[in-house]
Amino acid sequence: MVRLVAVLLAAAAVARAATTSAPSIVPGAYIVEYEDDQDSAAFVNTFGGQASLRKDLRFKLFKGASIQFNDIKNSDKIAAKVAELPTIKRIFPVRRYPLPQHTVHSTGDAGSEAVAKRDKKGHGDKGHGGKDKDTFTPHLMTQVNKFRDAGIKGRGVKIAIIDTGTDYLHPALGGCFGKRCLVSYGTDLVGDAFNGANTPEPDADPLDNCNGHGTHVAGIIAASSKNPYGIIGAAQDVTLGSYRVFGCTGDVGNDILIAAYNLAYEAGSDIITASIGGPSGWSEDPWATVVSRIVENGVPCVVSAGNDGATGIFYASTAANGKKVTAVGSFDNIKTPALLSTATFSVDGGSTASFGFTGGEPAAWANVSLPLWSVGFDTADPANGCTPYPDSTPDLSGYIVLVRRGSCTFVQKATNAAAKGAKYVIFYNNAAGTTSVSAVVNGILGVAMVTAEQGASWIKSLEAGSKVVAHMTDPLTAPKSLTYFDNTASAGFASGYTSWGPTFELEVKPQISTPGGMILSTYPRALGSYAVLSGTSMACPLAAAIYALVINVRGTKDPKTIENLLSATAHPNLFRAGGQSPPLLAPVPQQGAGLVQAWDAAHATTLLSVSSLSFNDTDHFNPTQEFDISNTGRRAVTYSLSNVGAATAYTFAAEGDITPDTFPSELTAEFATLSFSPSRFTIQAGRRKIVKVTAAAPAGLNAKRLPVYSGYVAINGTDGTALSLPYLGVAGSMHSAVVLDPAGALVSRARDHDNAPVPANTAFVVAPPHHANDTAYANTTEQPKLVVTLAMGSALVHVDVLSVGGVPAVVGQPEGVPALYNPRGTFEYKWDGRLVDGTYAPAGVYRFAVRALRIFGDAAKESEFDRSETVAFGLQYLA
Ligand SMILES: *[C@@H]1O[C@H](CO)[C@@H](O)[C@H](O)[C@H]1NC(C)=O
Ligand SMILES: *[C@@H]1O[C@H](CO)[C@@H](O)[C@H](O)[C@H]1NC(C)=O
Ligand SMILES: *[C@@H]1O[C@H](CO)[C@@H](O)[C@H](O)[C@H]1NC(C)=O
Ligand SMILES: *[C@@H]1O[C@H](CO)[C@@H](O)[C@H](O)[C@H]1NC(C)=O
Ligand SMILES: *[C@@H]1O[C@H](CO)[C@@H](O)[C@H](O)[C@H]1NC(C)=O
Repeated sequence: MVRLVAVLLAAAAVARAATTSAPSIVPGAYIVEYEDDQDSAAFVNTFGGQASLRKDLRFKLFKGASIQFNDIKNSDKIAAKVAELPTIKRIFPVRRYPLPQHTVHSTGDAGSEAVAKRDKKGHGDKGHGGKDKDTFTPHLMTQVNKFRDAGIKGRGVKIAIIDTGTDYLHPALGGCFGKRCLVSYGTDLVGDAFNGANTPEPDADPLDNCNGHGTHVAGIIAASSKNPYGIIGAAQDVTLGSYRVFGCTGDVGNDILIAAYNLAYEAGSDIITASIGGPSGWSEDPWATVVSRIVENGVPCVVSAGNDGATGIFYASTAANGKKVTAVGSFDNIKTPALLSTATFSVDGGSTASFGFTGGEPAAWANVSLPLWSVGFDTADPANGCTPYPDSTPDLSGYIVLVRRGSCTFVQKATNAAAKGAKYVIFYNNAAGTTSVSAVVNGILGVAMVTAEQGASWIKSLEAGSKVVAHMTDPLTAPKSLTYFDNTASAGFASGYTSWGPTFELEVKPQISTPGGMILSTYPRALGSYAVLSGTSMACPLAAAIYALVINVRGTKDPKTIENLLSATAHPNLFRAGGQSPPLLAPVPQQGAGLVQAWDAAHATTLLSVSSLSFNDTDHFNPTQEFDISNTGRRAVTYSLSNVGAATAYTFAAEGDITPDTFPSELTAEFATLSFSPSRFTIQAGRRKIVKVTAAAPAGLNAKRLPVYSGYVAINGTDGTALSLPYLGVAGSMHSAVVLDPAGALVSRARDHDNAPVPANTAFVVAPPHHANDTAYANTTEQPKLVVTLAMGSALVHVDVLSVGGVPAVVGQPEGVPALYNPRGTFEYKWDGRLVDGTYAPAGVYRFAVRALRIFGDAAKESEFDRSETVAFGLQYLA
């Protein structure tokens, strides 16, 4: 049972920072999994009023409960006892997960319906000769249009969406909830006011009228053509289940997610999709293991890969990183749609013309009619308005300042304009389309963005000495118009924000990619009805819809069969960063198998038995692997196998670095060598063949920089078959990677958000042991805060409190450790003197000693841990 105690204590009481850090935990809340079924109410009663039931989690595939200990301060201790009960299989803290940070580019308005009905230029299905042609660009990119043209729209398939709910009253989303409605099942597990930390108030109605994320996701899957903008759901005939797990804002605990997944499974869903996650990199994560279990029971689960591409390689997100879970990465749309608010302008008092803009924050634009002014007329100036304006600048309070986007922040640009009295700023873009910008700056009442073209045209007039007056409108109520721009920067390439795998144990992640960047879909009526959003959140639901289409065609919903098909038929693309492409395929850890080609997947007659191969690292090199090729066609096919290398990505920018490089990693054109046995062969119709692949890692690389090589086994058949099987490996040792630098742990002040280290021997005065009311001591005490920065992920982190002076001794462990399955990044926790056994360390001088297990390390050996000790600090209790 000792092992279970370890599991239980993982990450408890560890409050983690927002960026590159693990999901935070809910104090005193735990998920228990029972050995056998038992009554949850009776189980909670055994704690004699010390615990309450958060959520009964008794399902076919998971039997347990999440419980809230009322005495949060002693919850670890009570939970440790729970773990020792023979009826408990495991217990783990409730962690909170956010919606991946997606970008809102533009939204419609309350009048969208009426306005766009007049707009006959809408993209989409009002095509040629009245035929219902699908020209929606995310569909053209993935062959989804071919299904629609063939009348295949997912009929009979049930897709459960775990998200913020759905505005099912939206005219393009069926207009009702329940039997015979598009959104025919589901529930609200949390209520509007839920924020991830407070008590959920479930009800039966999963309506989303305040968040938007889930309504956008639902439209990607199944929006009807009853909309003015040519939005087409990829699988309009499916029925949707809506499981609402977020309130209007905030996070969700993994107990709610586990409940939602099990409810969706038991409701008979054929596919479950979730655009939710948090950094992890470990397939052993509790939530991920529950999703894996559902996939093992025959229901495909697709999860967004995450939007942390900027953080670089080895940053897989849970539950996408679960075994058998299909992690979906994002590609950028080939067209950039924008829903622009319309306003008018005039030049030199002439007639008015209209233009489109996207309102930002703040946006008090109603009735603002002012002349434009700009600090420079160079429409290619990369850093326009980034430095303080010249002394000759007039008082700008009577103008709208026009500034080009680029180099410095919007806030910096607005601040420089405000310094000369400006109240209004319009940015003109330096890329296609517009985005919604935020520049909350003293004195500024309105910010907005117009296109690069509109900006250039105004600048030309200003340069010619003309007076340009903009007659602005309230962006919330102004009529909207849909404009498509060519995406010249990134059309059809992996999105810069898409999170990179693989897991720390070198499982291939992500599996596949679909368009998620610049996606037009439905939005709650209360928030504008339509919106353009970017994120892997937008890619994942398209993949779910594609599963439904493939199920329609092939008549199987076996998760492995479909994932193998989608992977083998996907199209890998070149790497892209900053508008440039080296002549190298993007690494598998970024794009997985590449951009899904749904029609090819649905109709392939050659099937592979796997969706990817991992050759592991040099310590665990597994160079020879086998997979099956089946020819389900009606004729014999001769196949030839070859190797197509993708860019090798260096994990570390330089030898000696221990933290992975941020995006874009340095790439090289050294590829692994693959040999095949046999490499050319014929398979008769209806037969299969086992082939053997043997890999040799690329030569000439610097193993200390942990190069991750990858590529594709190309399988070409005489019947025109052209499949590609992604693979990856590491030409170095994961175990050799430092996970915790000797300087990786420090002591800071609990209230210091910057985590600045304190000098040695700083004295901390904390509240008295067993005090009841933290608030009462807030101003007179301050706790020390241990800040640990893991350079790479660690499956096990221990912390000891060492007494200093005399013979150094371990006095105990602070609550919340050991922490299991940690991502790389920073986590922190505040210490009030309490130890994990419930006692308090006496007043004295201490230091923290942190030990983090190396990747693939043996936890039984002390030598397998990296160590870091903090400076000494004094601990005193307020009398
Ligand atoms: C803008 O002008 C209209 C018409 O004069 C008026 O009804 C409205 O209240 C004004 N809005 C603001 C925010 O001043
Ligand atoms: C790599 O090897 C280690 C050690 O055998 C193993 O635990 C891990 O699962 C392997 N990774 C993959 C993806 O097979
Ligand atoms: C198989 O097809 C791929 C992609 O078209 C190509 O790059 C590769 O050279 C082909 N291999 C063989 C052996 O023909
Ligand atoms: C703590 O200080 C703040 C700011 O000075 C004050 O508003 C608050 O009332 C104080 N709280 C207590 C418990 O003394
Ligand atoms: C905790 O202390 C604060 C400040 O002294 C007080 O306002 C509050 O009522 C106390 N709470 C409880 C539950 O006693």
